[in-house]
Amino acid sequence: MVYINGRLVKRENAKVSVFDSVVQGGDAVWEGLRVYNGRIFSLEEHLERLQNSAHALCFKEVPSNEIIKKAIFETLKANNMEDGVHVRLTLTRGEKITSGMDPRLNQSGCTLIVLAEWKPPVYPESVSMVTSSIRRNNPMFLDSKIHHNNLINNILAKIEANNAGADAGLMLDMNGFVAEANGVNVFCIRKGIVYTPFADACLPGITRALVMDLCKGNDIPCVEKNLSLIEFYTADEVFCTGTMGELVKVSEIDGRKIIDKSKDGVLGKLCELFREKTKKSGTPFI
Ligand SMILES: Cc1ncc(COP(=O)(O)O)c(C=O)c1O
Repeated sequence: MVYINGRLVKRENAKVSVFDSVVQGGDAVWEGLRVYNGRIFSLEEHLERLQNSAHALCFKEVPSNEIIKKAIFETLKANNMEDGVHVRLTLTRGEKITSGMDPRLNQSGCTLIVLAEWKPPVYPESVSMVTSSIRRNNPMFLDSKIHHNNLINNILAKIEANNAGADAGLMLDMNGFVAEANGVNVFCIRKGIVYTPFADACLPGITRALVMDLCKGNDIPCVEKNLSLIEFYTADEVFCTGTMGELVKVSEIDGRKIIDKSKDGVLGKLCELFREKTKKSGTPFI
């Protein structure tokens, strides 16, 4: 069952109007949430980012967090979902009175969609990446801090990866530093120090923030800095982070194998700490 604006409908009937802003201009914001053992992981952080994205895009009549939470809980209950579930939460600018770009054509408030699916994080043990020719947005064009549905640049990066037989497209910022991959944040570990790019041209991921917190709480040095491709190619370990896939090792970038020279197992330790966190924390809904 899928929730659309207060109604729970069967998957095959889950549709929005052709006048909806998401159809007209990709004019929507979204979050991907994960459910572990009857609890929604990092729910408050996801709602905060959703509300900030909607505010940045000047959406009107945005549903409150209470309404959104109720919609998520209802959807999970209607589907008997407790574990191994991914929720795609979408908030669009809403239906327009006629086709067009102008937000003044939106006169009936936002459209809220809760799409929950059985989707355990079964990612390959490791992923390969190729550098994309598409640059990740920087605030001069469209700030990557808005988690919006205009995903074309990331989709083009993914197409490049598919065509090259790799799992993900690694995207650079406008100065040539690594920003993130097409749907995940990236980290590299060099001589026991964990590095990640500044959140200037990447989504400030919630899993990314959690990994930085886990480092801080466990005496693992973690530094945000401008990082070039070479620093990734020659790192001891590289990994990517996201709600959908959690923490995944990157085995190869642009045909260069990531060779672990230090063998200090920092990524293994972070995966363990992350797993512990998903077991204990989250918002219960049962
Ligand atoms: C472009 C991009 N980067 C990174 C992420 C990972 O973010 P999070 O850890 O908040 O799921 C996502 C997730 O939606 C994304 O779309």
